[in-house]
Amino acid sequence: MADVPKDLMQEIKRLEEMFAVDTAKLKSITEHFVKELAKGLSVEGGSIPMNPTWCMAFPTGYETGTFLALDMGGTNLRVCEIILTDEKSEFDIIQSKYRMPEELKSGTSDELWEYIADCLQQFVESHHGTKDLEKLNLGFTFSYPATQDYIDHGVLQRWTKGFDIDGVEGHNVVPMFEAAIAKRGVPIKLTALINDTTGTLIASAYTDTKMKIGCIFGTGCNAAYMENCGSIPKLAHMNLPPDTPMAINCEWGAFDNEHKVLPRTPYDIIIDKDSPRPGQQAFEKMIAGLYLGELFRLVLVDLHDNKEVHIFEGQNIDKLRKAYTLDSSFLSMVEEDPFENLSETGDLFQNKLGIIATHSELELIRRLAELIGTRAARLSSCGVAAIATKKGYETCHVGADGSVFNKYPHFKQRGAQALREILDWAPKKNSKEEDPIEILAAEDGSGVGAALIAALTLKRVKEGNMAGILHPENFK
Ligand code: BGC
Repeated sequence: MADVPKDLMQEIKRLEEMFAVDTAKLKSITEHFVKELAKGLSVEGGSIPMNPTWCMAFPTGYETGTFLALDMGGTNLRVCEIILTDEKSEFDIIQSKYRMPEELKSGTSDELWEYIADCLQQFVESHHGTKDLEKLNLGFTFSYPATQDYIDHGVLQRWTKGFDIDGVEGHNVVPMFEAAIAKRGVPIKLTALINDTTGTLIASAYTDTKMKIGCIFGTGCNAAYMENCGSIPKLAHMNLPPDTPMAINCEWGAFDNEHKVLPRTPYDIIIDKDSPRPGQQAFEKMIAGLYLGELFRLVLVDLHDNKEVHIFEGQNIDKLRKAYTLDSSFLSMVEEDPFENLSETGDLFQNKLGIIATHSELELIRRLAELIGTRAARLSSCGVAAIATKKGYETCHVGADGSVFNKYPHFKQRGAQALREILDWAPKKNSKEEDPIEILAAEDGSGVGAALIAALTLKRVKEGNMAGILHPENFK
């Protein structure tokens, strides 16, 4: 960056200070996180919901059966049929993807459920025809915070990830879903409502018994792990045996909603203020894919308008002024530009935004992308370290999925480095050596994971464990 003029250099330094999270800060965030996890499990509760999911066992690898899985993600709706075969940890899967129309995210509740039911109907008819079918068991991955008094029940606490559909928050989503299905006569019975993180945990543990935590780093960000019922004071009234496992969907995106430890910048504050749910998901808004591009855009607009440096001087930046115009894949492309002169980044700015950036501006752009991407990866490791610390896991595997984890350059390495700093691991002896806690690419949580949770639930009901079952008739 030797050729970058002094004023731009100063701006870069200011941004570096603003977005850096040093080891000491990572540690203090983690320490607070551990306490907040426990608080979420307590009767009085805290910011992090720590939702019991009624998924009460790890798979053995010998689960069998045919299941449907529905995944209502942020961008796509996916329907799968999964056959868990007799072979250990083996399965067959067929699937179809349907795009979630953008308007649906702020439409009406009826439009949402009808769309979902239509996709399911199409899937079942194209694979099974219209003949009379015995009802298929379905695992529904509904990846939003939901209070589950039962596994076949879930009251939406609040929409996240930019969704804003009236009439769903505060209601049990299962009857809404079932009514839309019944209207079309789709032969389905809902066996389990699950979160994508719980699915990820269970699907990953199906093939790797060292897996103890499931994470999603995608449009949103969250984790699930297995707790003992004896450590969940808010379930004490159920009198479950203390050593019985219970998967907890942490909903850690809500960590630090009260802004005690996270190093928020003025840009994070704008993101929150302008979001459909201000005051919610403080941690998620600094990490998840939905927000990374927006953070980057807000900084650039601010530098153009308000700072001494006046980047993109004299140019029309109207396209850059449009909120949420850049997604995290734009940032990925900036970080992936292999050329010394950042010509690919220059082309991106010109083609997508109609902005011609000077070489020095490109240097700033690249550094800014690195800062935002690095901060996200480092902060996310605080959550992983907190769960591991709470559970006393000195070694384990963590299954992670989601577009940011899978596609964002260097996210894994940066996260691993932060974990090393937080947990004070000695340097590796060689590059092949595993870290004590490794964050690895997960198995398909919302497909195989949902099927496995449905299978595990059927199995325990058959064995007479009716805890957390609302409609036993669906489990025959
Ligand atoms: C949701 C979680 C979900 C995560 C990842 C968050 O916005 O609240 O339920 O697990 O996104 O998809």
